[in-house]
Amino acid sequence: MSALTDRFGREHDYLRISVTDRCNLRCLYCMPEEGVKFEPAENLLSYDHITEVVRTAAGLGITKLRITGGEPLVRPGLAGLVSELAGIPGIRDIALTTNGVLLAEQAEELRAAGLKRVNISLDTLDPARFRFIARRGDLQRVLQGIEAAAAAGFAPIKLNCVLLKGVNEDEIASFLEMAVTRPLHVRFIEYMPIGHADENWRNHYLPLSRVLDIARENKLEVEPMRDVPGNGPSDDYRIKGGIGTFGLIHPISDQFCTRCNRLRLTADGNLQPCLYWVDELNVKPALGNPAALESLFMRALQIKPRNHEMAAKLANETLSHEPTARRMSQIGG
Ligand code: GTP
Ligand code: 5AD
Ligand code: SF4
Repeated sequence: MSALTDRFGREHDYLRISVTDRCNLRCLYCMPEEGVKFEPAENLLSYDHITEVVRTAAGLGITKLRITGGEPLVRPGLAGLVSELAGIPGIRDIALTTNGVLLAEQAEELRAAGLKRVNISLDTLDPARFRFIARRGDLQRVLQGIEAAAAAGFAPIKLNCVLLKGVNEDEIASFLEMAVTRPLHVRFIEYMPIGHADENWRNHYLPLSRVLDIARENKLEVEPMRDVPGNGPSDDYRIKGGIGTFGLIHPISDQFCTRCNRLRLTADGNLQPCLYWVDELNVKPALGNPAALESLFMRALQIKPRNHEMAAKLANETLSHEPTARRMSQIGG
């Protein structure tokens, strides 16, 4: 049994590392338009500190890393961090989740540094709608980022599309079409209520059964597949005759917590056992002390809850304890 086994028998080999809470977009499902109070630079873990934490984590059985933000590419020198992490014994997979805006400039350097995979957010194929959802930036830059990632040799390239009822659900068919005609892995994601004070989430939440309905209406023959490289919660499908594939990430309509294999490290240095709940442990006092860092990881597993309660939240029921006060941008998804 792996050292990182929690109270429910789940083995953890995947660490998601947020390197910044800042972002160059303001996607409506992630951050308020006015932004949030950003952490001053001195509160962020330095790259050396992150490397130290990962060294301990790797000693305990973490083999897969994902770098997230905010938007990770806004933090200078990220390729340097990737190359440090790639050199840690035991680390086999380093991936990145990005909004793609700065990817065209950095894709080659990141690949050379040892980054293996990239997941890129893409919620719409329409430039005006992009401005509505992301509130800043421009779709063209993201599309260039996707091309640059392919040119740099990243594969598979996954696109993350958060489905929002009444906003982009009319594009499901176009995204499925993209998975037929392009060598991309398109992932549809249910909109999660992380750190939302307002109730607008309920109006925009869309269960992903809608995607399979639309595939059927469009006469696409789909079948489940298991061989897409990845460490996350996606259920993947191929489409008959398609050169790409697609995936469904459905935390609310079909919870996947029994298969959870991941911990999170926030940019300000907290180990967060579960995306949804408030519980976290600050690593800063343990820096410089590998034994203390190890015990923090073990403690994180002891306090990790069995599952989230987003479905109960959707139904307006009382929750068993307090959800995180962080916005998604302060966790990294
Ligand atoms: P792969 O290794 O390529 O499978 O990546 P991934 O799916 O683990 O990472 P990514 O950052 O692309 O996340 C895709 C979506 O899954 C985001 O919306 C995340 O918030 C969501 N997600 C990832 N892990 C969890 C989790 O543990 N719980 C929940 N509820 N959602 C998660
Ligand atoms: N619900 C679901 N997915 C979200 N993401 C950001 N906020 C949310 C949310 N509220 C996704 C982003 C990115 C990944 C890190 O998480 O689109 O692809
Ligand atoms: Fe794991 Fe929590 Fe995500 Fe469930 S919601 S899969 S327990 S991190």
